[in-house]
This record gives sequence, structure tokens and C-alpha cells, in this order.
Amino acid sequence: QTLESRTLDGIANYIKSGRAQRIVVMTGAGTSTSAGIPDFRSPETGLYANLSRLNLPYAEAVFDISYFRNNPLPFYTLARELYPGKYRPTITHSFIRLLHDKGLLLKLFTQNIDCLEREAGVPDEAIVEAHGSFARQSCIECRSPYPDDSMREMIATGDVPHCEECGGLVKPEIVFFGEQLPAAFFLNRMKPAEADLCIVMGTSLTVQPFASLPGFCAEGTPRVLINKERAGSLGSRADDVLLLGDCDERVRDLARACGWLEELETLWAK
Ligand code: OAD
Repeated sequence: QTLESRTLDGIANYIKSGRAQRIVVMTGAGTSTSAGIPDFRSPETGLYANLSRLNLPYAEAVFDISYFRNNPLPFYTLARELYPGKYRPTITHSFIRLLHDKGLLLKLFTQNIDCLEREAGVPDEAIVEAHGSFARQSCIECRSPYPDDSMREMIATGDVPHCEECGGLVKPEIVFFGEQLPAAFFLNRMKPAEADLCIVMGTSLTVQPFASLPGFCAEGTPRVLINKERAGSLGSRADDVLLLGDCDERVRDLARACGWLEELETLWAK
């Protein structure tokens, strides 16, 4: 038996024994790559490696508020590709839904703006969209909301939407570099301290303040990392468990070890 499978079984036993009743899940773009949405930082397939056509001064400028003010077009070119509606949740998203259905999910913190957790059936009150989402949009000057149907039209045609009140630029309520995270993030950011299990999936944990969340878990609370590569300081505590590899595969392994695989596959197939 490899060390890895022992630790997987260890976590599964911990869950099966009923000791994990308040699970916090933290996710990033890696949970949606198998849905067809690129992540940001993977060397060849990530968004930041594939933006040369947008002629940006540096890749992250596409999500930078000061850059957007002067040149919103690159963001809107990308928004067309990323706009929700064309992608289906992955089995990893359904796993979070399953944790909720079992009454075990304390909170999901997601950095993703694709709304796929919602689409998988995780209810609004369980989700903290730390980097906002495409669900709403407003004027960056006067903050007036901008209608959903007009937004959908603008995205489809590749036009840049302007405020109907003041003519300012309209932006989806996604958190850009240089902007504050939503109040819900700050209201909930100590929740990890109440958790009895933490599962971090599909994130490089490079962007603050999100990246600091796993650090709020109590010493002795197992923290599981399900990711292609190591991330953040996961692995530095005695109770950390690294399940490295593809999230959908590792999630299936964990579900199988908990005796939930069939239930999970059925939920996902719905
Ligand atoms: P990153 O692209 O930084 O990290 C994604 C992580 O998921 C990497 O460690 C990948 O190796 C891993 N990964 C990719 N596909 C995977 C798969 N199928 N199975 C397992 N692991 C996989 O994305 P985030 O951490 O989400 O913010 O990025 C954080 C923030 O940076 C984003 O929310 C966005 C970005 O700039 C803003 O725009 C404000």
C-alpha cells in the first residue's frame, strides 16, 4: 500500500466514523477544467499563457481594474468565452453538492466565477463566491445595476456595455485585481476555524486573501488537498493529507472509500 492510499483511507475513515460534521471546501479553477474552462496558471493550457492575442502589457491586466477602465475590450473578448451557460458541472462540483445533501457542508469558498457549484445544486447560503461571479453586473462609476438580458446580448455581440444612467463602463461583479472582495468573504472568513475537516481543491492558492483561508483551520483539523500539484502551505501540518492528481479522479477515489461512489455518480448524471 502506498502512503497516499493510506492517507486517503484515513480521511475516508474519519468521515465514515462521523467525526467530520462541519466540512469547509475551498475551490479554484482546477475544479472546472474538466468542464472545458481553462484555469489561469497551468503552463500551457492556462488562460494567462494564452492571452497573447489580446496584446496585454501582462496577463493579469485582463482582470485589473485600472487597466479595464482604459481598455475594457480584452476583458470582454474573454468574457464571451467564459460566460456561464455553456458549461456543465463536473463530478467534483457534484461531490460538494453531495456533502451538502448529507448535511456535512459548513461552507464552500470558491474563487470561481463560473457558477458551476450553484448549477450542481449547492444552495446560495452555503456558497461564498470570494471573487464574485457573472451573476450580476453594474456600472463601475455610479454602481447602478445593469440588466441581465442586455448583458447577455452585449457579451454575445462582443460589445462593451455602458451604464444606462451615467454612461460609465459596466462590469460583471467579478472581483478584479485592485478591488475589494465581497463583504460575504470577510463575514465568513473565520468559518474555517469552526471546521472539523477542510478540503481544498483545484487551486494554486496564489491569490490573497483567499490563499490565507486554510491557515484559519484549527491545528489538528485535517486539511485535504486535492490538486494536480502542491499548493500553499498544505502539507506543512501533521494532519494534512495530499491527494495529488486529477480532481475528478481523486474525488471519485474518496467517494468510493466513503461508500458514496454510486450515489455520487447518480447525482452527477442527473
Ligand atoms: P490557478 O490557475 O492559479 O490554479 C489552478 C490549480 O488547479 C493549479 O494548481 C493546477 O495544477 C490545478 N488543476 C488544474 N486542472 C486540474 C485538474 N483537472 N485536477 C486537479 N488539479 C487541477 O487558478 P486559481 O487558484 O483558481 O482571480 O486562481 C486564483 C485566482 O487567480 C482566480 O480566482 C483569478 C486568478 O487571477 C481573479 O481574477 C481575481
